[in-house]
Amino acid sequence: MKRIVMLASGRGSNFQAVASAIARGMINGRCVGLIVDRRETLAAVRAEEFGIPVFTIDYSGFSTKGEYEEEVISTLRSLAPDLVVLAGYMKILGSSIIREYAGRIINIHPSLLPSFPGLDAQGQALAYGVKISGCTVHFVDEGTDSGPVILQRAVPVLDDDDPGSLAERILLEEHIALPEAVSLFCEDYLRILGRAVIRLDSDLHKERFRSA
Ligand code: GRF
Repeated sequence: MKRIVMLASGRGSNFQAVASAIARGMINGRCVGLIVDRRETLAAVRAEEFGIPVFTIDYSGFSTKGEYEEEVISTLRSLAPDLVVLAGYMKILGSSIIREYAGRIINIHPSLLPSFPGLDAQGQALAYGVKISGCTVHFVDEGTDSGPVILQRAVPVLDDDDPGSLAERILLEEHIALPEAVSLFCEDYLRILGRAVIRLDSDLHKERFRSA
């Protein structure tokens, strides 16, 4: 069973989607900790409800990004994760963390990458005028939202959407995509081949998430 550590910055609905899937036995892993980068996040409240230990590493308490990162890395080392999941974590991870956990960090982003990386992906999609957007789960590399894509789910963009309504529609798909990707990783079903991620799961495994 894989050891999963999650990082979040706020509301934590993606954290909750993964924690619920674990609780329902859909993921061959357990969440050994949630790291949050500020105090009083809803993510931390949700973790406590699941009995998952919360590690608050308050970004504002450090004078440099380097010192903050050192604390994150030593917390990660103490938790010995097989998989690190960025679930609405709003900081860019430093290269030392990314190198140490290469191929073992995944992120969820609210657009169909490589379109609209970075902040306000939904606003960027509306400003561009695309008719389809969605979410992407990907391995993290040293760029911004640029690592190999594990899976994506699409939604229509409607004429009367604003960033909030589009974000809500995409979020429903995030809550399916992220647990599915975590499960694929935990079953050792993912292989990274250059930019491509090959999935080796069965129809039975796919069905588990389609009907979730
Ligand atoms: C999600 O849309 C995620 O894709 C983005 O930030 C949002 C976090 O939502 N990176 P939540 O905290 O998981 O509810």
